[in-house]
Amino acid sequence: MRKKILIAVVCLAVGGVVTVSGGLVLAENMAPKDTKTYMPVVIEKSFEQIMEKGAAEKSKYDSRQQELLKNRYDLSDNPSDTMMSAERKAVQAGVRVKLHGNTSWNDLSEMTPAEIKEQNLFPMGFRPLPHPKHSAGGMVFPQDQIDNMDKLESRDLERFDTEFDLPSNFTPEFPPPIYLTTRPDLGDVSQGKVLSFKNYYELFKGILTPVQMEGMRLLLTPFPQQQFNQTEDRNVREPSLGVTCLDCHVNGHTNAAFHLNPDTRPQAARMRLDTPSLRGMHNQQIHGSKRSLRSIEDFTEFEQRTAYFDGDHVTAAKKGVNLPDRASQVAMMAQMQNILDFPPAPKLDAAGRLINEKATEQELRGEVVFFGKGRCAECHPAPSYTNNEMQDLQLEKFYDPEEISDQYNIPDGPIKAFTLRGIKDSPPYHHDGRLLTLADTVEFYNLVLDLDLTQPEKEDLLAFLLCL
Ligand code: HEC
Ligand code: HEC
Repeated sequence: MRKKILIAVVCLAVGGVVTVSGGLVLAENMAPKDTKTYMPVVIEKSFEQIMEKGAAEKSKYDSRQQELLKNRYDLSDNPSDTMMSAERKAVQAGVRVKLHGNTSWNDLSEMTPAEIKEQNLFPMGFRPLPHPKHSAGGMVFPQDQIDNMDKLESRDLERFDTEFDLPSNFTPEFPPPIYLTTRPDLGDVSQGKVLSFKNYYELFKGILTPVQMEGMRLLLTPFPQQQFNQTEDRNVREPSLGVTCLDCHVNGHTNAAFHLNPDTRPQAARMRLDTPSLRGMHNQQIHGSKRSLRSIEDFTEFEQRTAYFDGDHVTAAKKGVNLPDRASQVAMMAQMQNILDFPPAPKLDAAGRLINEKATEQELRGEVVFFGKGRCAECHPAPSYTNNEMQDLQLEKFYDPEEISDQYNIPDGPIKAFTLRGIKDSPPYHHDGRLLTLADTVEFYNLVLDLDLTQPEKEDLLAFLLCL
């Protein structure tokens, strides 16, 4: 239940749009100024001019983003005892989203959404996370991926104008393990390697069918993309053949590479998108945060012509978009993706519920919270832990949109209720990666769904999420 309480806060003015008057914070409703739908096709500047400017401004954008992350989150390295599936990285512990002033999570849960909005107390880490260079957007790869593709294929994935922003303790283990629905007996088939065009054939000979093998080849073949191509407005030093599907969905999972969604205009209102895992696609019926595409075939076909080029088919044509053939190439790529399985969850039974003898008391209590007071199962039901719907978490109840780091942070609207199977393996969380740990997601839902969970209930719920 929410009681009315008044809290004195110290507020930072963000981007000059927040005014503080006697503890009351008013955010002006700033609409994005830009009204463009199309991007420029004919570029008047030379590549050298574009690169010089991009490289010269890089540190300005990088430090602005690091400042924003430091203000929003506790970024320290605090590994828990739980390891990700292949035991290559520990799951990070603790709530990382920072609170305003001297408020506590309990104070917040006792306030109404209107009070939180009025006093501007919704944690900034619960709001949309901007791209470090939001005005340009585009794909940004973590250093592990850049280093590996450089070593394996001499393919440069490093942009000269921006860089990956999150510390590596908040990204998935690298390389992630690969599980196949067709060969559960083998366990992880990655042999600890990062899949690339150079090694996939040796690794999968005798394990994949010819159709799946050809699908895998295409998933590992570079195709042009907005930033990685041959034209003067690329963002990589040398003309580039492009990127591969598995540059982001590394080993069929994710390395937390990100870009902006193709579905929204203007540029300032676009959402950052953290790469989701491709594990367990066979049990999911809608795809994409906003796109709600109904098949893996659709997503595979449209990823290159839409997402790779910011939803702009005009620049895509200029830069040499690959339009895979639906009947042959797309079908084989989809068949390959559909056999990538979730990681094993040894404590779950066939219906996705805890096996009493294998689970701890705390995990069993957490399961009760998940299916009861926590209301999680209403949108994330077992055994796939997704309801295959898009849901609107109605964050507009808690804050007024404003422009921060060139992003106009409008409420998210309906988003795919992503699956929670294997969830400990894929930080950061939510479509833009704004939540760094599972403990953050528990505090998020406790506030947003007004759950009134006690501290022990929060800890139990977290223990259950780690079993999924
Ligand atoms: C920036 C790196 C990146 C590359 C390269 C990339 N993806 Fe994705 N992929 C994403 C992101 C981000 C999303 C989430 C899209 C959204 O939320 O709307 C996604 C979503 C998907 C999904 C849907 C997941 C779901 O169920 O919601 C599929 C399937 C997929 N990608 C397949 C592919 C294929 C096939 C390719 C190559 C043609 C590819 N991706 C290349 C980042 C990438
Ligand atoms: C009203 C439906 C709804 C309920 C109830 C709900 N969720 Fe979600 N969940 C969503 C949606 C929608 C998303 C995607 C949000 C986004 O990406 O912005 C999501 C995403 C998540 C994610 C991140 C998934 C990922 O791949 O990044 C976690 C973790 C999560 N939910 C946990 C929970 C827990 C724990 C509960 C219960 C306390 C819960 N959810 C209750 C709708 C719901």
